[in-house]
Amino acid sequence: MKLTEFIKEKPGFSAAIVFVVGLVAILLLAMLAASITFRRAEVASIYNNVKVKITGIESRSDIWGQNYPREWETWKKTQEMDFKSKYLGNMPEDALGARPDMAILWAGYAFARDYSAPRGHGYAIDDMRATLRTGAPVDGAPDLQPGTCWTCKSPDVPRMMKEVGVENFYKGKWSDFGAEVVNPIGCADCHDPDTMSLTITRPALIEAFERHGKDIRNATLQEMRSLVCAQCHVEYYFKGDEKYLTFPWDGGITMEAMEAYYDKNEVTDWVHAVSKTKMLKAQHPDYELFLLGAHGQRGVSCADCHMPYISEGGVKYSDHHVMSPLKNVSSTCQTCHRDSEDNLIGYVYERQDKVLEIRNRLEPELAKAHILAKLAWDSGATQEEMADAQKLIRQAQWRWDFGVASHGASFHAPIETQRVLSHGLDKALLAQLTLKDVLYRHGVTEVTLPDISTKEKAQAWIGLDMATLKEQKAGFMEKVVPEWIKTAIQNNRLSAPQAQ
Ligand code: HEC
Ligand code: HEC
Ligand code: HEC
Ligand code: HEC
Repeated sequence: MKLTEFIKEKPGFSAAIVFVVGLVAILLLAMLAASITFRRAEVASIYNNVKVKITGIESRSDIWGQNYPREWETWKKTQEMDFKSKYLGNMPEDALGARPDMAILWAGYAFARDYSAPRGHGYAIDDMRATLRTGAPVDGAPDLQPGTCWTCKSPDVPRMMKEVGVENFYKGKWSDFGAEVVNPIGCADCHDPDTMSLTITRPALIEAFERHGKDIRNATLQEMRSLVCAQCHVEYYFKGDEKYLTFPWDGGITMEAMEAYYDKNEVTDWVHAVSKTKMLKAQHPDYELFLLGAHGQRGVSCADCHMPYISEGGVKYSDHHVMSPLKNVSSTCQTCHRDSEDNLIGYVYERQDKVLEIRNRLEPELAKAHILAKLAWDSGATQEEMADAQKLIRQAQWRWDFGVASHGASFHAPIETQRVLSHGLDKALLAQLTLKDVLYRHGVTEVTLPDISTKEKAQAWIGLDMATLKEQKAGFMEKVVPEWIKTAIQNNRLSAPQAQ
């Protein structure tokens, strides 16, 4: 079935060559599957030697670490910051500073305040507390985010969900859980302590499957090696006043299917402060886009590249240092590809370069569309006149965000990502044309665009008082966070190395 699809995609190819290539690919995957099965026996012997008995939802990874020292030692490396590839790596990077147009694109939304490229799992809690997007709930100042916001950060989340109920967790205030959700993404997020099998701990993924009539517990091990990641690395939204975490997958997982879902359910994440458009914020559809790429279609899993097997003194285990596979091409890509390290890295960069070329075209055009919309409003345009342009802006930005927010997509699924971004560019330019008509009707024939060439200028232009926001955050970091940590330590909730 998959093979025939492949032949259809490349009609110019000799069927024989395609068949042989396909066979090799299938053989590789079969070998992988066999090695996984063989490993189950190996793994079983590890469990018989456990030192501590783990019961309930144990969110302190150091406790698990006593039983599984190799996984624990490699897991801790998610706190390293020592690698930079051409575009990514494990260091935080001020993305708004590098591409200030994004401050315009998110005007009126917390992302315009602060947005950094992700780093390792070990920083999930630190980064969530420190970002200006969570505001400064201190001295009675209100929360900016609901409890839902913690969902993809910590194994304390399933623990708290069990304690207070899933609905109550989501609709609670973010700061309600500050002294409870304290450990970054860890063992209990992905493993059942009794069997060490991979398990799904986030209700939203289970529920999304259920709405398709599927029981996620029937997933194969190879599927689970991606599904554990799909608990967090997916598109989602906070549904209704209850802020119930929901995946918009009911009609499918393509960009268009999710947009149709949001339109049908009249979902608006925020109203844009410049163009007054009802906007959507894409999260990070890594899993969905991955499935549409060459590796996803062949049944390769996230763990194959991001958690490769390591052999050490006769023991084979999974590298729990989840990061860019380019740091260690020999244990990632070269497990399956007989090609040089330089070539393999070159393939990744070539795809990223080409996708980002379209992204870099799209971002300024989309920012310009928002600004032209503001000028149209200022010149007296009516809601009726603006409706078409606003629809195009919403669509353009959804396409942009969908293609960009999934940082790995330019390699995982370069063709699909480029398709999505190209449609974004098309819609952004159409929005500008439509707005120029509106402006013309109101007698505006010449426009001067603001200087938004740096993050500071762009943030000032959209009216953000960054000095105050930063000052409030500093107060929160100084007064509130140490209290949260102190309480967590008193209640014996914190794992090493955080607790040390
Ligand atoms: C519980 C939620 C959660 C799960 C499960 C999860 N991630 Fe993540 N992942 C995150 C968050 C949050 C970040 C960003 C952390 C930060 O920047 O502070 C992240 C960051 C990353 C990064 C960037 C690391 C770097 O060094 O820049 C990669 C790669 C990644 N995840 C891959 C995976 C893979 C592969 C899986 C499955 C094996 C997975 N993640 C499972 C939430 C999760
Ligand atoms: C983001 C999800 C995720 C997290 C977090 C995670 N694991 Fe794993 N773990 C996996 C995956 C995927 C495998 C590979 C399963 C397979 O192929 O059988 C695995 C395998 C294992 C195995 C089986 C032997 C091996 O290494 O393949 C052990 C033991 C294990 N993990 C322990 C831990 C411990 C201890 C922690 C916390 C320090 C942890 N894991 C955190 C996803 C995770
Ligand atoms: C065939 C190998 C491969 C597979 C399979 C794969 N990835 Fe990736 N992933 C990569 C490469 C290569 C990059 C780009 C790394 C770089 O540029 O340094 C990347 C980047 C990422 C990033 C961005 C990291 C950052 O620093 O911002 C995330 C997140 C990610 N992948 C998650 C996933 C998830 C989730 C899955 C499964 C749904 C997955 N990957 C499957 C190879 C893979
Ligand atoms: C678990 C095995 C596996 C791993 C690990 C793996 N690949 Fe692949 N890769 C495949 C398979 C299978 C295909 C599809 C081959 C086919 O059908 O011809 C593929 C196809 C490709 C292609 C051609 C598809 C396209 O996008 O046009 C490139 C390039 C590629 N891989 C690069 C990489 C790089 C770089 C890495 C490491 C980051 C990597 N692969 C890791 C199995 C793997």
